Amino acid sequence: MQQIQIKTATKSYPVYIGHGALKMLGEILKKDSGSYTTIMVITDETVAQLHLPYFRKQAGLESLVEKIVPAGEKAKTFDIYYDCLSSALENKLDRKSLIISFGGGAVGDLAGFVAATYMRGIRFIQIPTTILAHDSAVGGKVAINHPFGKNMIGAFHQPEAVVYDLDFINSLPEKEVRSGFAEVIKHSLISDKNFYNWLTSEIDSLDNIDDKQLLEFLTKCIQIKGSVVAEDERETGIRAYLNFGHTLGHAIEAESGYGKVTHGEAVTIGMVFALQLSKALLGLSFNIEEFKSWLNSLGYKTSMPAGLSADRLISRMKQDKKAVSETVRFVLLEEVGSPILAEVQGDVLLENLKIFEEEGESFD
Ligand SMILES: NC(=O)c1ccc[n+]([C@@H]2O[C@H](COP(=O)([O-])OP(=O)(O)OC[C@H]3O[C@@H](n4cnc5c(N)ncnc54)[C@H](O)[C@@H]3O)[C@@H](O)[C@H]2O)c1
Repeated sequence: MQQIQIKTATKSYPVYIGHGALKMLGEILKKDSGSYTTIMVITDETVAQLHLPYFRKQAGLESLVEKIVPAGEKAKTFDIYYDCLSSALENKLDRKSLIISFGGGAVGDLAGFVAATYMRGIRFIQIPTTILAHDSAVGGKVAINHPFGKNMIGAFHQPEAVVYDLDFINSLPEKEVRSGFAEVIKHSLISDKNFYNWLTSEIDSLDNIDDKQLLEFLTKCIQIKGSVVAEDERETGIRAYLNFGHTLGHAIEAESGYGKVTHGEAVTIGMVFALQLSKALLGLSFNIEEFKSWLNSLGYKTSMPAGLSADRLISRMKQDKKAVSETVRFVLLEEVGSPILAEVQGDVLLENLKIFEEEGESFD
């Protein structure tokens, strides 16, 4: 097991990562026993069915309030958020209580937002169970969705600890492995050419990633994310680089209807577009065709889902909280490992989006 320390301006906390890491939760709770009045775990129906008995055993708690929410983006709604707050009140959680988020990024975002807002903020621990959640569990961004946009209602609220037991990944369907691996690719593209080269040479299929590779790339990504949030916890500067691929990605997710295209699938299409835009506007030297064929060999789509209108996607992007007036803020690459923030004019975006749509074969 590895330990990575995340140091932000407001908090320093450990990430325990490895097979069997969940035993650290028991240790943490034992060490802090007495410090928490009530502990409530928020998990989703799929994770609860697969892993809650093991979780209960490892946590070793006599009493634990359990809140089970719908799986996926359905968890990140006002109704479910309100329901969690009601359960917290009914079970008399107070300012010394602890919320544990046990699941993927959706549960982590929801539970973290509940913890951030309940009684003006109580402590929480993240127990991620997906590959994607290597990203969402670290850094303290927590949120729910609004029908007008993803993650529109949220807060910055750092966890007390992140306990990442890679045994949970074994039950993850390939579609979700693919979704999470997109954020791994993103971390490599924005930060480190050697890491990107390592990924493309090591990973040739998503159904035979071995334990060593998994630990290696997830540890590397958490270190990258940790160094970014250490410098810019509140996203006033370089943290925005982590949105590489997300500007169009979020618009695709919202336009298709949350949950239809996974977050990672949408971000992958967004990254391919951002690379094309980087080529057009910054002269990026990068073999996009080679990148696309690697992605396709891993089962990713690299063109637009059918039926999405470029105009509507652009208005979604303008609505995105990172957008400013008539321009859309994009993370582009000068080269692999060198991201920049650029304000792209709506008409330039439209032109490039149309080229992107014409070049790729859209899919249903
Ligand atoms: N806060 C952040 O910084 C940040 C960063 C990136 C993404 N996100 C958010 O994360 C969310 C996506 O995360 P995600 O892909 O983990 O989504 P998720 O939580 O919806 O999980 C995906 C699916 O996998 C299932 N699942 C989870 N763990 C499992 C396991 N071990 N075995 C089998 N099935 C399992 C879930 O029930 C769900 O159906 C999005 O809402 C996105 O906005 C947040």
